[in-house]
Amino acid sequence: MASRYHEGYEAWRKDPAGFWMKAAENIAWTKAPTRALDADAGVYGRWFPDGECNTCFNALDRHVEAGRGEQAAIIHDSPVTGTKRRVTYAELLREVKALAASLTDLGVEKGDRVIIYMPMIPETIVAMLACARLGAIHSVVFGGFAARELATRIDDATPKLILSASCGIEPARQVEYKPLLDKAIELAAHKPRATIVLQRPELECTMVEGRDHDWAALRDKAFAEIVVGRDVPCVPVKATDPLYILYTSGTTGKPKGVVRDNGGHMVALHWSMDAIFGTEAGEVFWAASDVGWVVGHSYIVYAPLLKGCTTVLYEGKPIGTPDAGAFWRVVAEHGVKVLFTAPTAIRGIRKEDPDGALAGQYDLSRFEALFLAGERADPETLIWAEETLDRPVIDHWWQTESGWPIAANPKGLGLLPIKRGSPGVAMPGYEIHVLDETGKETAPAEMGAIAVKLPLPPGALPTLWNAEDRFRDGYLTAFPGYYSTSDGGFIDEEGYLYVMGRTDDVINVAGHRLSTGEMEEAVAAHPAVAECAVIGMRDVMKGELPCGFVVLKTANGQDRAEIERELIAIVRDRIGPVAAFKRVVIVDKLPKTRSGKVLRRTMKAIVDHDPFDTPATIEDASAIDDVRRAVG
Ligand code: COA
Ligand code: AMP
Repeated sequence: MASRYHEGYEAWRKDPAGFWMKAAENIAWTKAPTRALDADAGVYGRWFPDGECNTCFNALDRHVEAGRGEQAAIIHDSPVTGTKRRVTYAELLREVKALAASLTDLGVEKGDRVIIYMPMIPETIVAMLACARLGAIHSVVFGGFAARELATRIDDATPKLILSASCGIEPARQVEYKPLLDKAIELAAHKPRATIVLQRPELECTMVEGRDHDWAALRDKAFAEIVVGRDVPCVPVKATDPLYILYTSGTTGKPKGVVRDNGGHMVALHWSMDAIFGTEAGEVFWAASDVGWVVGHSYIVYAPLLKGCTTVLYEGKPIGTPDAGAFWRVVAEHGVKVLFTAPTAIRGIRKEDPDGALAGQYDLSRFEALFLAGERADPETLIWAEETLDRPVIDHWWQTESGWPIAANPKGLGLLPIKRGSPGVAMPGYEIHVLDETGKETAPAEMGAIAVKLPLPPGALPTLWNAEDRFRDGYLTAFPGYYSTSDGGFIDEEGYLYVMGRTDDVINVAGHRLSTGEMEEAVAAHPAVAECAVIGMRDVMKGELPCGFVVLKTANGQDRAEIERELIAIVRDRIGPVAAFKRVVIVDKLPKTRSGKVLRRTMKAIVDHDPFDTPATIEDASAIDDVRRAVG
């Protein structure tokens, strides 16, 4: 008998427009769409072309009007500050209205960009929703990125205003956001007209007169005005208008601004919340990621709030805040039904608590499933989690570009048998193909490039910000008619997908997507460096860690250890601590093909201590011995 998943997938396949129009009925539109896809609009089509809506209305006002006002919208659990805070839907709406009023006073209007550089606190969600309320386009920048990265995004998004906070808190140190923000504005060619900065009690910062505004002062003023009747309405936008830009790593040093629209995004995320994650309104959902990543955008903020769930916003780590039982403590304390995290977090917990004893100390009776994504879930980690939790552990696969799962095992539609090592099957909306170099479909179980037949579904990126050509070149030209995911893998006889890794130079460090090309640009900026290549080496905890192979200029007389330290510092300073660039290997020459292509795969095999064959095309085989010696 066909499962509900198979029925759902077939229903979508037979009538994609009908499928998504039905899903669109769950959204409150200011003008309901009359058709699903305009195949002639945009690069590959646009969803709900004549619909009008407001995402903030659907995430907040709607629930308050429906009587959900006293339900917690956010539970902020912050072991790093020793605080917990419950924010109801009604309170969140009040905060969002106040900030939207302040943004309006500072000149922010529909279509303007606003950058948000903030830690994991409720005000970050307030900031995103206040932008959405006004039809302004937010761009959240992850706190672990350095000033220069922030500056690149400022120049690309050209924001009218930036929202920030005085500090973020990492277990071992306070991250001073304000000096980073000041430096980024100094480095950027585009200058925002104002900033709003939240002073956190843990570390207050100095403000720049005339440019920086104190969040609390603006909030008090706006509250006072709202009390005496100031209205801060939701601004209707086209379904196809951008809701946000989220920058992600590509192969070059310039990050790509993934654009998300309003209408299709709401339809897809709302649908995914129960169909894939099996979570209904009123239930507690926790994505243990960071708001700065796509997982945070989709499953800390938008999907749970659109659905009327309670979302947990966790400002801490899986280990060390204070111990490896932290996740289970949060699950038990807040009645989390579904937890979503990256495998690296589970590997970290397992390392500290190999027998899973800490999980046994908490009441996990309301906990139903663990979802994993962001990097390949290795079977050992999966087995450990299954045995420790005695719950389904569900791998699923997607990207910043897609915005929601491309392949999963849908809990809400009914779980299919779990195959370890596979993130499941194609979700409705996605027709997944594995193609060889010529664009021909591979046989079942045969490796190839994973591609998705166009059009992409609602919620997936329609384009890149200010870079439509880059969107076409980077994603749509390799296989005409398909979106190329840059992941390689295969599909088995039963339709289960296996994702084996990136086919480009993007690496995955602790579930964070990073560009080796960008690191190479940073390393090459050192005056002693003649040539370099950064590759991802295997790491038991973080999946991959960057390793830089460096050839020095011949005349250079500087101490090697000193150069290594400087290179590590340069990458940290330019890209940020999140790059976790801590290993430099100095070699005499890089192994290359006769046409000059660096043999990255061979270098990776050497540093991972994997067997390899010396490629026949190698220019100088002695380079291999050199790398071997240097790696040790
Ligand atoms: N602001 C500033 N710095 C940050 C930061 C932030 N928001 N987030 C991380 N960093 C810093 C960390 O302090 C660390 O700096 P350090 O070199 O001074 O120690 C560096 O960036 C790397 O951080 P992280 O990747 O979190 O690794 P970690 O070593 O601190 O922690 C684990 C290890 C196991 C906790 C980690 O693997 C983990 O759980 N990561 C989160 C996974 C995740 O959420 N992925 C998102 C996709 S779902
Ligand atoms: P990001 O855009 O940061 O979400 O990173 C997306 C990339 O992470 C994908 O292209 C994959 O390479 C990798 N990834 C995400 N989820 C999985 C998964 N479940 N299995 C294997 N790789 C994954």
